[in-house]
Amino acid sequence: MTHVTNELEKQILGSVSAASDEAALEAVRVGALGKKGQVSELLKSLGAMSPDERKVSGPLFNTLRDRVTDAIARRKTELQSAALDARLASERIDVTLPARIEPQGTIHPVSQVLDEVTAIFADLGFAVAEGPDIELDDYNFTKLNIPTDHPARQMHDTFYVAKQADGSRHVLRTHTSPVQVRTMLKTKPPIRIVAPGRTYRVDSDATHSPMFHQYEGLAVDEGITLGHLKWVLEEFYKAFFEVPKIELRARPSYFPFTEPSVEWDLRCDRSVPGKIVFGTGNDWLELAGSGTVHPRVLAMCGIDPEKYTGFAFGGGLDRLAMLKYGIPDIRPFFESDLRWLKHYGFPALDVPTLDGGLSR
Ligand code: PHE
Repeated sequence: MTHVTNELEKQILGSVSAASDEAALEAVRVGALGKKGQVSELLKSLGAMSPDERKVSGPLFNTLRDRVTDAIARRKTELQSAALDARLASERIDVTLPARIEPQGTIHPVSQVLDEVTAIFADLGFAVAEGPDIELDDYNFTKLNIPTDHPARQMHDTFYVAKQADGSRHVLRTHTSPVQVRTMLKTKPPIRIVAPGRTYRVDSDATHSPMFHQYEGLAVDEGITLGHLKWVLEEFYKAFFEVPKIELRARPSYFPFTEPSVEWDLRCDRSVPGKIVFGTGNDWLELAGSGTVHPRVLAMCGIDPEKYTGFAFGGGLDRLAMLKYGIPDIRPFFESDLRWLKHYGFPALDVPTLDGGLSR
């Protein structure tokens, strides 16, 4: 009997160590210890034996079963840890590699400047407001105190959209000022908003594009004066041009929706060709139109001009980008030339913030 069990043990243990994965090992287990397995059959045969025979064979068979069971368990652990090692090796990550492949695209200078402008005004307590590019004639002109026969309509070389059935007319907005109207119509003072966006005029040369960008500012509250406006613009231009000191010059001007109206120039030095330095020098750069919101505009937008006053300002966003980043011509802004975009674009992951730096 010893001979039989030794042989069987050798054979089964051989198959156990030969099993190369858990499925093969399971097949060996079923063949030995399963219902009809070789070891199970031997154990079953004990029942038909005489007590003497059983005394000899019983311990032999049981020992065989225990050894086979142990061998299978050990092999199973071995196979599992080999499988885990293989998986860890295949999923290995080299943490010394650079974190990210350099992003391919760049941020357009207009988007960059738009983000910079909104970051600065957000810091000054201005919320961002928006309006549509295709604007009601009423909001672009009439509610801004520019009635149909007003000569100021000629100043804006307007793209008109065909009349609607009800007689109303849309235009491609000629400035961001209709966002003032939209804001006042739906919000009560205090109001502090900045509205950057696309604007359109029939105009095209090195410094004018039929589509361009403006930023608009509006503050309405009790007791708002032009003094507040001057401080806000000073803070804005200092932050935007990233210089400690600037000097603004006010010039009287005319806009139908502000009274009085003021245009602002910034002192600069252009004595070195191709270079502008702000805050010193003998040149002046025209930057923004502005003024005290006309009482008629307040009234047309549902705000009591006896109780509230406001200031508004507006300027060219593309122009800010050209000045700050030394871009001489506006036309390539909108030509999608990859070489231009690579040259003047900004790193895609570099979001301008006041504390982290506007432009770097
Ligand atoms: N909308 C004017 C323009 O396009 C600028 C402006 C805005 C003037 C707000 C006064 C107040 O020229």
